[in-house]
Amino acid sequence: MTTKTIHGFNSLVNQRKTRKKVTYGLTDLRSCGPVAVGNQALNKGLRQAYDTRVMGRIISVVNQKGGVGKTTTAINLGAYLAEAGKFVLIVDLDPQANATSGIGVDFQTIERGVYEAVLGDVSMKEIVQPTAHDTLRIAPATPALAGLNVELVPMERREHRLRDSLLEIRHDYDYILIDCPPTLGLITLNGIVAADEVLIPVQAEYFALEGLGQLLETVNLVKDRIRPEVNILGAVLTMYDGRTKLSEDVLQELYKYFPNNIFRSVVPRSVRLAEAPSFGRSIAAFDRFSKGAKAYERLAREIIETEINHIKAV
Ligand SMILES: Nc1ncnc2c1ncn2[C@@H]1O[C@H](COP(=O)(O)OP(=O)(O)O)[C@@H](O)[C@H]1O
Ligand SMILES: [Mg+2]
Repeated sequence: MTTKTIHGFNSLVNQRKTRKKVTYGLTDLRSCGPVAVGNQALNKGLRQAYDTRVMGRIISVVNQKGGVGKTTTAINLGAYLAEAGKFVLIVDLDPQANATSGIGVDFQTIERGVYEAVLGDVSMKEIVQPTAHDTLRIAPATPALAGLNVELVPMERREHRLRDSLLEIRHDYDYILIDCPPTLGLITLNGIVAADEVLIPVQAEYFALEGLGQLLETVNLVKDRIRPEVNILGAVLTMYDGRTKLSEDVLQELYKYFPNNIFRSVVPRSVRLAEAPSFGRSIAAFDRFSKGAKAYERLAREIIETEINHIKAV
């Protein structure tokens, strides 16, 4: 069985295959085309893979500050993980639905999305939509999500709702990336509880570190009281401008919060990254030679490298 070489990730894929005796080729799954509910060929492929593959990683992209690059990171990291042959699902947990529209799905045409799935009215599997990348799917947000914070309050297992709704599909994916809204409310709490790892984009600007303490405290509270398995994957610096001393200062300060886990890949400020979502495309599809594209490609590679630790951990 052959596995296509994509961006030199082949050796990592092979390492994983050896460790866990994964016997299927990723290309077999890719060749099944975009998922459609009831697509029997794909479902059969996924079922075969189910028994042998490593449990997927669920990574929540979290920062209660708005405009720091969470959605940009979820879309483009997702796209490059998919380009590397991974099966990826982005879960859009923000009522603004920026990840949904940014990857080319018109949320106005969506009847049922993450809101209905979290409430249990529909299964997560049924709401998943294809994207322009073969192995990248999205669980779309709709504006209805805005009501979820309030509706969750009286519910049983209110912090676990998203995690519960992902259980049936987590084995279908190598990566599930959750794009959280810019708050630390119940929706984001669901995003953290559902995750194995938390990825924190930090904007390279003066007030960026404000609130980081509170965010880390929230993750630690979840770890202590709700789910001990959740870990901080790391911080990724976004909108970095190497010409300013400020960007460099923010990076130095960031080491105080994350002494061991700041990603080497720093995302530069790039107009192309800001333009891509208005065309409903990832930067991989929009301008793969731009510096922003290279940064997200490197970030994907760094995260794939940490799969080895994850395999050891599960
Ligand atoms: N590296 C970057 N360079 C330039 N613009 C960026 C970059 N990352 C994000 N943006 C833009 O900044 C705005 C906020 O980014 P976004 O990813 O939506 O943040 P969040 O999801 O944290 O609110 C968007 O308009 C986005 O296109
Ligand atoms: Mg966002």
